[in-house]
Amino acid sequence: MFVCLSLLSNRLFTMESDIRILFIHSIEQHIKQNEFIKLSLGNYKGTDPDLKNIYVKPVQIKKQLNLSFTYRYKTRDITKNYTVQEALRLIGDLFNAHNFAASTLFITQANITCQQSKNKSWATTSSEPTAKMPTTLTHDHQKERKLAQGSKDYLHRLKLTDEMGNVYKNAQDKWKQINHYIELLSTMLKELPAGDVLQVVDMGSGKGYLTFALYDYLVNVLGKPSSIVGVEYRKDMVELCNRIAKMSSFANLRFEEGSIDEYRPKIRLDVLIALHACDTATDDAIAKGIENNAHLIVVAPCCHKQIRREMEKSKVDNRLDFLLKHGIFLERQAEMVTDGLRALILEYYGYQTKVFEFVSDAHTPKNVLVIGVKKSVTQKRKDEILIKIKATKEFFGIGYHHLERLVGLEV
Ligand SMILES: C[S@@+](CC[C@H](N)C(=O)[O-])C[C@H]1O[C@@H](n2cnc3c(N)ncnc32)[C@H](O)[C@@H]1O
Repeated sequence: MFVCLSLLSNRLFTMESDIRILFIHSIEQHIKQNEFIKLSLGNYKGTDPDLKNIYVKPVQIKKQLNLSFTYRYKTRDITKNYTVQEALRLIGDLFNAHNFAASTLFITQANITCQQSKNKSWATTSSEPTAKMPTTLTHDHQKERKLAQGSKDYLHRLKLTDEMGNVYKNAQDKWKQINHYIELLSTMLKELPAGDVLQVVDMGSGKGYLTFALYDYLVNVLGKPSSIVGVEYRKDMVELCNRIAKMSSFANLRFEEGSIDEYRPKIRLDVLIALHACDTATDDAIAKGIENNAHLIVVAPCCHKQIRREMEKSKVDNRLDFLLKHGIFLERQAEMVTDGLRALILEYYGYQTKVFEFVSDAHTPKNVLVIGVKKSVTQKRKDEILIKIKATKEFFGIGYHHLERLVGLEV
């Protein structure tokens, strides 16, 4: 008769083979009863000098329950997914080969550890549960996200989720932002001309949250051959991101140390992204996109200091001076003027532009997205744009806009 280990809390078994058979039966039973959270196979005694342990967790693949095995090696992780039957067979083989001397099964009611003692005998013990069931597997009504959190090891390495794929409480805003950003981009990316490997550059990639998510979405969700380069001048970030990309087997995702204005694409530049690149770094990024004829330019600007300084310096008398004498209004106006002029300059170069709030300001104040999609522009419209830029600068007392200087359009 089958005996569920969780019902035998604190009881010790001594028959070695029975114990391991019961442990594997128990895993199967708890999977069937929807109580299985994860399994860790540790204290490795096998022959592979680099393997440390294996983590097993449930994942939904094409609406089927599978078990995902993460093989943790000294310098990288490898993830493989198996059907439940294949996985149970594999776990049985690993146990029979005596490869792992300590394994813990995490279920909703308990943690059950099966381990070999110094005298080589096996025993199981059970203790209070410490793991929680991941919400993606238990709540079908959860908001559908472009990126399923459960099976993404890179999210764990970037410290956004725990090992089981649960988003940490303090990473919830970032997670929402990432998904929303992918959701917005997904429509635009589908409209790009079909062709070769998509060449994407993320300027000021920082810790790479959005760079990784975009790569994962393009390559693993859409199946679109893509190459992404993150440009960042912080060496530590570049090294960290390259390490995680390698561990995640993201072969065409790399990070380069350097400044945005010095970046030269090796092949083409199809999509340019710059999220929260500070002050005029956003202009450097837009200029790279324009120069290289990118199909799509997406920037989320931040710290609009250059135009604010220009406006403060000149203090022109205009119909808005009653507003602009207040620092906070001047700051907000400077943001709008900076980004409004950026959109106009993009239009001048044939980009159809949109400016909108991309996440609620409850999540981040840097929440405006400027998007340019390459189309065409008439000479008449270009002339109108130049007049508009000139008038706007005069009205606000702006000597120059960094972007117009970069693209050689100063009027
Ligand atoms: C606020 S972080 C944003 C990171 C990332 N894009 C995101 O949204 O999560 C801005 C990053 O841009 C980098 N950065 C700013 N100006 C840069 C420049 N001119 N060249 C290269 N990197 C730059 C900074 O080092 C920083 O890591």
